[in-house]
Amino acid sequence: MAAVTERRTALITGATAGIGAAFVRELAAEGYDLVLVARDEARLAAMAAELPSAEVLPADLSTQEGCDAVAARLTDPARPVDLLVNNAGMSLNRSFLQSTAEQQEALLRLNVTAVMRLTLAALPAMTERGHGDIVNVSSVSGFAALMPGSTYPASKAWVTNFSESQAQLVRRFGVRVMALCPGYTRTEFHDRAGIDVSKTPSWMWLDAGAVVRAGLKDLRKGKLVSVPDWKYKLATFGMRHAPRSLVYRVSRGTRGRIGRETH
Ligand SMILES: NC(=O)c1ccc[n+]([C@@H]2O[C@H](COP(=O)([O-])OP(=O)(O)OC[C@H]3O[C@@H](n4cnc5c(N)ncnc54)[C@H](OP(=O)(O)O)[C@@H]3O)[C@@H](O)[C@H]2O)c1
Repeated sequence: MAAVTERRTALITGATAGIGAAFVRELAAEGYDLVLVARDEARLAAMAAELPSAEVLPADLSTQEGCDAVAARLTDPARPVDLLVNNAGMSLNRSFLQSTAEQQEALLRLNVTAVMRLTLAALPAMTERGHGDIVNVSSVSGFAALMPGSTYPASKAWVTNFSESQAQLVRRFGVRVMALCPGYTRTEFHDRAGIDVSKTPSWMWLDAGAVVRAGLKDLRKGKLVSVPDWKYKLATFGMRHAPRSLVYRVSRGTRGRIGRETH
């Protein structure tokens, strides 16, 4: 693990649970000062109290005000942020046909708009300083239209494509952007969405700490897209290169087998 010699600051959204909390633990161990973003203020305060150097920034990133507050912190010239982790995200436990426009817009505001807003807030100062990292937490589901009727994979396809695009734009300035694409990871995510994962085989599950360590390693190697774990690397290769007809067949299967959330 690379120890940070000069003070560096990381801002993590969705910092209080799951993959975000694993980022907090890893980066605190590396010596980063942390800015923790989530909605639940009590949980944020409890987490910060256990860390050597952390400030809390309560914000609902599915709202414009929440994005404005975090963007203001990211653009504060007196307190530069070296690493931004756009991690907060959500899924809907329903198919498109059974959803409302409000529900779909809430998903897009958190999974897409907030990622765009915060990246746009952080990047100009990073390119000016000649260093900085952004990790956008996406998903392997973004590589194919899995779970027909779910718009979650489409939102993550945007995050991956967006990250690859910005990464190519800013790397000549010494700034790295990477999409981290985990598969099924044990967190609060599925419970929150009311998704029944009781039949998801245990071999499919990843540990949040392992996902984050693999992601940080790939970021430092200069990768634009990180897919932790060989099983999901293999699955992703298939999703990208197999004939579409085969991908659609597998995708229809995920609705019944691992995508009960869509109906
Ligand atoms: N778990 C998986 O299997 C999996 C797989 C692939 C990708 N991912 C992606 O990984 C990321 C993290 O997911 P996770 O599994 O770690 O989820 P999680 O355990 O449910 O944690 C979600 C975190 O985001 C915060 N959050 C939720 N809504 C928010 C909002 N509107 N504004 C600000 N913060 C919000 C939560 O705190 P508050 O509720 O206090 O706001 C919490 O800290 C997501 O982008 C997800 O799509 C997860």
